[in-house]
Amino acid sequence: MSIERKEAQKEREFRGIKIPDLPPQIRPTLFEEIGQNREYTYFREIRMKEIQDILGKHNITTPIKPANPEVEADYAVACHQAIKQGIAIEDVITELHDYFKDTITFTLQGMFLNFSINRKALFAEKVEEVENLGATYGFNSNGQAKKVILDVSSPNVAKHMHLGHLRSTVIGESLRRIYTANGYNAIADNHLGDWGTQFGILGHAYELWSEDIPELSDPEQQVSGLLQLYVRMNTAIAEEKESDPNGESALEDAGRAWFTRLEQGDADAKELWQWAYDLSIKEFQRIYEVLGVDFEYILGESLYASQSEDIYREFESRGIAQRDEKGRLRALPTGKSKLPPMTIQKSDGSSLYATRDLACLADRSAWFAPEEIVYVVGEAQGDYFRQLFDVFTQFAGEETPKMKHVNFGEIVLPEGKMSTRRGNVVFLNDVLQETFIQAYDRVKSNATARNNPLSESELKDVAWKVAVGAVIYYDLKQTANRYIEFKWEEALSFEGNTGPYLQYACARMNALLDGHDATRTIDDKSIEQSGPQADLLYLIDQFPEVVKHAIAKHEPSVISEFAYKLAHTFNKFYKEYPILKEKDPATQAARLALTKATRQTLGNALWMLNIPIPERM
Ligand code: ARG
Repeated sequence: MSIERKEAQKEREFRGIKIPDLPPQIRPTLFEEIGQNREYTYFREIRMKEIQDILGKHNITTPIKPANPEVEADYAVACHQAIKQGIAIEDVITELHDYFKDTITFTLQGMFLNFSINRKALFAEKVEEVENLGATYGFNSNGQAKKVILDVSSPNVAKHMHLGHLRSTVIGESLRRIYTANGYNAIADNHLGDWGTQFGILGHAYELWSEDIPELSDPEQQVSGLLQLYVRMNTAIAEEKESDPNGESALEDAGRAWFTRLEQGDADAKELWQWAYDLSIKEFQRIYEVLGVDFEYILGESLYASQSEDIYREFESRGIAQRDEKGRLRALPTGKSKLPPMTIQKSDGSSLYATRDLACLADRSAWFAPEEIVYVVGEAQGDYFRQLFDVFTQFAGEETPKMKHVNFGEIVLPEGKMSTRRGNVVFLNDVLQETFIQAYDRVKSNATARNNPLSESELKDVAWKVAVGAVIYYDLKQTANRYIEFKWEEALSFEGNTGPYLQYACARMNALLDGHDATRTIDDKSIEQSGPQADLLYLIDQFPEVVKHAIAKHEPSVISEFAYKLAHTFNKFYKEYPILKEKDPATQAARLALTKATRQTLGNALWMLNIPIPERM
């Protein structure tokens, strides 16, 4: 066997599709950073398991559920079945009490075995547990280090990033963190739109009109310049089509020809493409930096373009795709899906978005063998992803990974509010700048009002964090699929369910803890069974469950809802109980310890949302 043949055999394939080498990873995953295969021990889980075991011994197998809010208990077990079978619940209760002593109180109320966790016992446990687990309190290892690919952000080169991409970026980053917290090795891949006939249109426009657009030679304005070219060309094409009896456009044909040059590797075309790519990436990176977002990979569509021929051949030969009368190659979703055909090759021979997504699916399957691939993309592409998943499943058979479209609704800005609204595109950068300006004023007047002046540089730093926190939280507090109207007033308020409210709660806790040793021996005699203190403890205890729930629903809003409840409950506690003014040192220590555990838990929740936390504000 010749050397070349051997080399060729080493090449990777996925069902007849040649797989390119995986480009280097930009950074280690969060999972790799945090340390693999960690074990997280929760007293809560241990307790629940012990209760379940004792109940099981008595043939009571109904699940433990949170008690109804009307009942004064934390959890409840339905015993209808057990009572019918003549099981003596009272005896079971005696056994439970013997086992748990006074840490849990069990009572039979009607058909339910209810139980409450003694807050004093919980207090000692929790404070220690949160202290020990620190930044990983709330994490679990359920994901077993399996890889999950998150397809996120994915703006288009030579265009501005818009608010839809903001949502994908923000939801995607939060999911990346929530998956990591659930023990998955989450890998975010920014699937840049950097290929397609639109680049031919742009390239041709550049050749015709670049001299007319001064922005193109101003480094700060070049992306705007490109966008102008693009808009001008599309308008001209539309006009040509309108006036042509056959609805054809010579400019469009020329654009297609330009794209063919690019696809065939023409050096000049490639150079112009690279220039536009580098420019756009630079602009995107600025925004990612402001938002504090990272990706493990930025693999644009162009990476998959060279696999188009393989896709056409394999899909057609397997009968998944068919040529139509116009010469297009169309993949046919299964009959029961009731979805229309999906074109994977145009009649002029060029590839499409879908072609490259199919190649990308084959590559991701081969590269990572992922547990799941999650596409965080606007709801407008819902049918598209249904087609894509259906068609790829036919192709990949038992090698198909789990695929999920996390869709989200549009964000709109209140009409007339943006002076920088140009055409229909709202520029994300402008939204962030505007939010910063407003945040700055608020932070400044708030600091002055509280006689807590901040230096100019501190003020700027805090204002950026508040602005970013406000935008991110405003997005993540809504369930993803909702359509959002962005209101600055509402997003930036220090009161109510907002990012700044949560940041402010953290800053308040920091101030309380500053200079106090919250870890000295704690007396728990001041801990009551109900009230804000008890509620706080209960919420902190729930956090690990909330984190699991968020992943089951693919919903950052599960975490944001929790964070708000926790901050709100803390503020109630803070109003009702003196902390720094408390005279009894033991009671003060207990309150500080609770504050510290709350601060850690809220910090961890905000980390999962990617909300920055100012030290003070
Ligand atoms: N670039 C696309 C857009 O702006 C989003 C890409 C989403 N990801 C994907 N694999 N199709 O609409």
